[in-house]
Amino acid sequence: MDQFFSRKEKSSESHPNLPDQDNIPSHIAIIMDGNGRWAKSRGLPRSAGHREGLKTITEVVEKSGEIGVDYLTLYAFSTENWKRPKTEVEFLMKLPERFLHKELPRLKKNNVQVKTIGDPSVLPQHTRRAVEKAVQETAGNTGLILNFALNYGGRQELVEVVRDFGEEIRNGTLQPDDITEEMLSGRLLTKDIPDPDLLIRTSGEIRLSNFMLWQLAYSEFWFTDVLWPDFTGSDLVEAVQRYQQRKRRYGGV
Ligand code: FPP
Repeated sequence: MDQFFSRKEKSSESHPNLPDQDNIPSHIAIIMDGNGRWAKSRGLPRSAGHREGLKTITEVVEKSGEIGVDYLTLYAFSTENWKRPKTEVEFLMKLPERFLHKELPRLKKNNVQVKTIGDPSVLPQHTRRAVEKAVQETAGNTGLILNFALNYGGRQELVEVVRDFGEEIRNGTLQPDDITEEMLSGRLLTKDIPDPDLLIRTSGEIRLSNFMLWQLAYSEFWFTDVLWPDFTGSDLVEAVQRYQQRKRRYGGV
């Protein structure tokens, strides 16, 4: 990742395999899946798959910047992932530090802005600290927004909004009939970022697993059998090529 990229200063040069430079998805969301199976197939512990998955993140961030994506949201840890064995959860909680220790200097240099969605309150101190540091130190960057969904759950996110509305209705400051889609969108954790244009899930699983349930209403989906540690920049380009062949109608004709 050795080039500077910014939303406002996008390269006018089109990517060789993406001739339709006017139709690059602004926001790509990825469910990174298959680390465990990647490791198992090699007779390695699951942690080895997660470690390898970090390298894929680096490659995908680089490629996203190169092709001119504005927002990249990665599902790093779901509210359901706490059900995994304690040792695996502990390992997963070390990944943000591991990744950022190595990559933060480069992310900073490359004008990437790190953001997160999810409930940080129950994350271990060391995980929170590493992520907060990255968010703070990249807050002024204007390039690719790298958004980690960490202890994120789509249903929980919606429940929070419903609670807020309920509270305001009880206070008399809101009438139920006044609630609009825009108001609801504006209270989600993603209020500052547009809905994903393209959702990618690796490893052959074809489900959403509680990821951005509201925001993905009109996104294009692309599923691949490739396991996350094997996913490459070329796979990302292929997903974008497929996206460019789709005709988005948003319920129209
Ligand atoms: C899915 O594979 C992967 C995960 C649950 C974790 C992915 C997280 C990372 C790679 C680290 C990201 C964190 C940051 C902030 C850098 P799986 O374990 O579900 O694989 P399986 O379905 O084959 O078992």
